[in-house]
Amino acid sequence: MPQSPPCIAIVDDDNLVRTFFEAVLVEDGYRCRTFSRCSDALADFAGSLEPPDLILSDILMDGMTGLEFLRALHNADCRIPVILISGYYDLPCAMEAIGCGASDYLLKPALPNDILAAVDKHLNPPAAGSRVLLPTEADFSADLRNLAGRTEGRRLTELVTSMPEKRIETLEHSRRVTEYALLTARRIAGRTGDMDWQDMEIGAMLHDLGKVGVPENVINKAGPLNPDEWRIMKLHPAIGRDLLKAIPDMDGVAEIVYSHHENFDGTGYPRGLSAGEINRCARIFSVVDAFDAITSDRPYRPAQTVSAAMEEIRRMAGSQFDPAIVEEFLRIPEREFEIIRRVHSEPYSPT
Ligand SMILES: [Fe+2]
Ligand SMILES: [Fe+2]
Repeated sequence: MPQSPPCIAIVDDDNLVRTFFEAVLVEDGYRCRTFSRCSDALADFAGSLEPPDLILSDILMDGMTGLEFLRALHNADCRIPVILISGYYDLPCAMEAIGCGASDYLLKPALPNDILAAVDKHLNPPAAGSRVLLPTEADFSADLRNLAGRTEGRRLTELVTSMPEKRIETLEHSRRVTEYALLTARRIAGRTGDMDWQDMEIGAMLHDLGKVGVPENVINKAGPLNPDEWRIMKLHPAIGRDLLKAIPDMDGVAEIVYSHHENFDGTGYPRGLSAGEINRCARIFSVVDAFDAITSDRPYRPAQTVSAAMEEIRRMAGSQFDPAIVEEFLRIPEREFEIIRRVHSEPYSPT
């Protein structure tokens, strides 16, 4: 018997929005059930022999908000993934949505492609061997469980296992920058004799954790971000810090995550810190994060060579980067970077 297409529940009190979402999804071959009230949706799911495969829900609705709806689903032990849709971005609300187990977050106006991409990602995870841009939750949490096992922060595991499957750079990017950061930190510590090794490692691995609180269609936007979208994107260091602050013994890691977009000359964000005001591990991290970006393929340009990246980093010493850290970084033999790149290369198959 042919398998019927996945069913998506749309919960929104705005008739026009419901109709629009339904039209987009039905056109793409999905089945839809629409509800104007959360309570109707809950009653339907409770008595249904065929619960939906995915729920799209507005946040601001009369009667019950999207967050209350999430909590009610959680209390009913309902594990259907939920994508929340919001007309405006509200940081506390996004944080609460993550805490309540939302799988994703879309900002209105959501274009048909945004809706289909978000739905497709949750219903059709990429096949093994294809180009994987999204670390799977299992991959990411396995790495972090490993890290958490070496810390007291057991709640890190809880946080990470509840983390939505979302593009947080790539898993291999996180692994490479962690290795590069430790490599660079070893040279720095060789001179000064001290280093917060564990903070450095976990901070590098989790640097973009806060992107879980940034709407999907802002993170994955194909073109340049508009000023409002930039304002939202620039919240990710603070979101990451807040998530980590809730975990014991993560203060050092939280500070690295909070500071990873600060520049040595004070032109970075979110605090505009400069020089020694910026956490030392974060200063190390920003060099290696840029190095990995330059030596990786981007949609708009191919990867640069290691020596071209070294030249670029040298040029930014004193402005974006701490010159003392750059000096040590440039002394690392190219071969050491190449080995890390080979071990943690992207699973890429050209199509
Ligand atoms: Fe970042
Ligand atoms: Fe990064």
